[in-house]
Amino acid sequence: MSLKQLFERRRIDSGASDHLPMSTELHRSLGVWQLTALGIGAIVGAGIFSGAGTAISGGPNHLGAGPALVVSYILVAIACGFAALCYAEFASMIPTAGSAYTYAYATLGELVAWIIGWDLIIEYAVGNIAVAVSWSAYFQTLLRGFGLGFPEWLATDSRTAFQAYKSVQADPTISASATLDAARAWTAAPEVFGFPLIFNLPAVLIVALITWVLVIGIRESAWANGAMVVLKLAILFFFIAVGAFWVRPENWTPFAPNGWPGITSGAALIFFAYIGFDAVSTAAEEAKNPQRDMPRAMMWSLLITSIIYIVVTVVMTGLVPWTDHGTADPLAQAFTERGFDWAAGIISFGAVIAIASVLLVFQLGQPRIFYAMARDGLLPPWAARVHPKYRTPHVTTIITGVFVAFFAAFANINEVIELTNIGTLFAFVIVAVGVMVLRVKEPDRVRPFRVPAIWFVAPAAILSCGFLMFQLPRVTWERFIIWLAVGLVIYAAYGYRRSRLRQENA
Ligand code: ALA
Repeated sequence: MSLKQLFERRRIDSGASDHLPMSTELHRSLGVWQLTALGIGAIVGAGIFSGAGTAISGGPNHLGAGPALVVSYILVAIACGFAALCYAEFASMIPTAGSAYTYAYATLGELVAWIIGWDLIIEYAVGNIAVAVSWSAYFQTLLRGFGLGFPEWLATDSRTAFQAYKSVQADPTISASATLDAARAWTAAPEVFGFPLIFNLPAVLIVALITWVLVIGIRESAWANGAMVVLKLAILFFFIAVGAFWVRPENWTPFAPNGWPGITSGAALIFFAYIGFDAVSTAAEEAKNPQRDMPRAMMWSLLITSIIYIVVTVVMTGLVPWTDHGTADPLAQAFTERGFDWAAGIISFGAVIAIASVLLVFQLGQPRIFYAMARDGLLPPWAARVHPKYRTPHVTTIITGVFVAFFAAFANINEVIELTNIGTLFAFVIVAVGVMVLRVKEPDRVRPFRVPAIWFVAPAAILSCGFLMFQLPRVTWERFIIWLAVGLVIYAAYGYRRSRLRQENA
């Protein structure tokens, strides 16, 4: 085996014609605003509805940013902006429904492409574990509003239950219903081999439902996405408009209770809230003018969401003290804690729909990445199988569903968010490297969109994303490295020998 083989590149345009059958008849109908809506649709979800709570209050691995989380949002938006420009240059050059995997194959060679493809599982499938857990939290708050609920041990994970149990023991005056329920799960759970059996049944059920919908075939519809975006924004505007009346300015002090370390730690967590703008690039084949509109749409969706996130955070931290946000449904809890259950109910209802739509987008994206990798011979051919009747990649859709549902049953949301962030940041870094490499290797290639000031923007993307990676806890790094190592073993055992590119060259 030669080193050169490992870095063999796939010709950039060779993937243009072989994509999923379900996407062959797509019309070029999306303009800049529809693309922006697509971005917002994928972006606004568990990050703002759940992750922001721990980022404000802190958790076992994190210092809380307090009200200064607004600064974190600005920092992360800038980092994502640099990365988005790099994505846009690739997306405009590779006009197939692609992802960082396709870009890496074209520029940095097969080994890096494999690493990225494997890494994207973290962004899509692992990210969706967190989204499912977040959905479950809001769904339960909604049920509680109707006097209904799952038994506590079927509605959380053991880590959260144990932490809640500890907090209630340390402070018996705690009144937040989500914390009390989680604590009860720890004491009331049936035991299996001496361990309390605690798992998140609603999270499993929503993933099962979405998987089923995707197997029987859902057409991405710009109209449905548009409706979803309007609903999401309406819910966040509702939170802002109603919450603003009940803000207590004294809650904004201290502004940065943990100083700069709190702000950067919060930034590493809420990066999750911006993941998804890269989804715009996957619509390249449906855009009317991808070259002009995709970079714009990514920037618009980043700008709009960061402004909304900042205002939501200002209101959120004004409603209750910064230490009280650490639940999986902090936007609803902020209202509940102030005694406005009806407002918490409206938020929960909107969140349940909004978060389900993010689940759908990523659950749809993951099988397509598997599909692309199988098509290139890096995964077995059955992964590229398309259902004869429904025309969907049903095998990979079901595998993704089982994987996400299994871990969503037991996972702690913050740990999953951290892992997703490190994986996604890593993908951004590689995309930024890839853009520079291609500029050097193929300077004359037509670039419908060129990153302005590339030698500043791409290194800035690498440095800022790298900086955020280093804010994540050690255990996250360990998990990430193990994940990559497992991927390399699989590549050595399978993809390296079966790669279509290598077989064609041979
Ligand atoms: N940005 C997406 C969310 O927050 C992943 O749910």
